[in-house]
Amino acid sequence: MTVAAINGSPRREKSVSAELIHQMQLLLPEIRGWTLTSSMPWARRGPPPVTELASLYRADALLIAFPLYVDGLPASLVEYLEAYAAGYPAWQREEGAGRPPQRVFAIANCGFYEGVQNAVALRVCQLFCQASGLDWAGGLGIGTGGMAVGLRNVPPQAGIRRPVTSAQRRLAEAMREPGGRLPDDIFTQHSFPWWLYKLAGEASWRHSIKRNGLGARQLNARPYQN
Ligand SMILES: Cc1cc2nc3c(=O)[nH]c(=O)nc-3n(C[C@H](O)[C@H](O)[C@H](O)COP(=O)(O)O)c2cc1C
Repeated sequence: MTVAAINGSPRREKSVSAELIHQMQLLLPEIRGWTLTSSMPWARRGPPPVTELASLYRADALLIAFPLYVDGLPASLVEYLEAYAAGYPAWQREEGAGRPPQRVFAIANCGFYEGVQNAVALRVCQLFCQASGLDWAGGLGIGTGGMAVGLRNVPPQAGIRRPVTSAQRRLAEAMREPGGRLPDDIFTQHSFPWWLYKLAGEASWRHSIKRNGLGARQLNARPYQN
């Protein structure tokens, strides 16, 4: 069993998506053959090389982890997936002849509280698979995404992480089983009060704007309004 993972975050190794891929690796210790890549280096530089794509096509399952950007996928990831889909049919006809279509799983994470915010983006992934001859096997949408990095040293079974960890375990089970899939997409978030999350988020915006030499009033600026 082999897995290829695409980190679709423009923040690359510092991203929540990288941490979520790492957490899936910890949940699937028996899988030694991981191929990890990032869509970002190829943004605006043309398609990734055929050799890179072929190394991903060969995996039994593909895991795409990405941040929600304006209710969709980051443009750099869309470009990467377009190249992936364009090359896949020829690879499957030739090198991959006789193999079942590759199973594709996705983890979307977002800044809003509710994991269900990622529903449309996961549906986009599903339609992408249907149009490309790939086998959509299910997705996980995680709200309060940024907390995954802040909580990385907290035990996975701790209460605050538990809803996300148990969803990740269900995803891991589907991935490890030959031909396995999630019956439905799963949506979840960390176990943290909504109002406290909102307060912490607002404090973080105020902190960031000060660091950038502006005041809290500018947070409400609408420069394109007129
Ligand atoms: C350009 C941009 C657009 C975003 N759009 C959304 C959005 O529509 N909904 C949301 O909940 N979060 C949105 N976010 C927040 C990210 O999804 C969130 O910070 C995520 O945890 C980043 O994950 P990453 O570290 O893997 O890139 C957006 C962030 C950026 C930079």
